[in-house]
Amino acid sequence: MLALSAVAERKLTRFRNALLEMEEGGRGLKNQSEMLKRIGEAMDNAIAEHGKRAGSLAFYTALKMGAGTDDAYKLFWCGLLHDACKMFVNGNFIEKPHKLEQEEMEEVRMHVRIVHLVADRVKWLAGVEDAMRYHHENWDGSGYPNGLKGEEIPLAARIVGVVDAFDAMVDGKREYKKPLDYDEAIAELERASGTQFDPNVVRAFVEMFGERNEAQKAE
Ligand SMILES: [Fe+2]
Repeated sequence: MLALSAVAERKLTRFRNALLEMEEGGRGLKNQSEMLKRIGEAMDNAIAEHGKRAGSLAFYTALKMGAGTDDAYKLFWCGLLHDACKMFVNGNFIEKPHKLEQEEMEEVRMHVRIVHLVADRVKWLAGVEDAMRYHHENWDGSGYPNGLKGEEIPLAARIVGVVDAFDAMVDGKREYKKPLDYDEAIAELERASGTQFDPNVVRAFVEMFGERNEAQKAE
């Protein structure tokens, strides 16, 4: 089992308190801007920024797949929080401007195995913890932590897997690699559709992204 550093313990307490406060506020999973701000502040900056973008993409993908507003909101929180536990693994490698070594990679992979540290105490995460735990599972069973396959992987985690990968590919702040432009990143998603990713999710994402892009251009 992973022993958390003193710094990580402090971050964990702060983060859990922010989530609990939201629960006490009785506001369920609705996107309240004040709550969002508090939780964002209790996360490391790079993780929060990536999470907000992933959350918004997950929200629109879920809508595209036919989810109602409440379920789509749930997907927003899944996207926002999916990588939160990276704050508690050593070194917080997401901030590092280099490609990860094998050992660092193993450490980062722990972030999906320590979700219970947060989810065990925060009831409203019940609808979100699957995405935190399984967003690195792959459609063909080659992912981690459990090697789940196809629809064994919870849908929320399949959606987050796609939006997470997309945002990582186009993110210009990961200095160790050149960001892809949108078309290149979409081509990558399509290439890995049916192996890494659920083909239905990729299809919905690509359609949704194209429509939103067109709409933004028209504004
Ligand atoms: Fe992750």
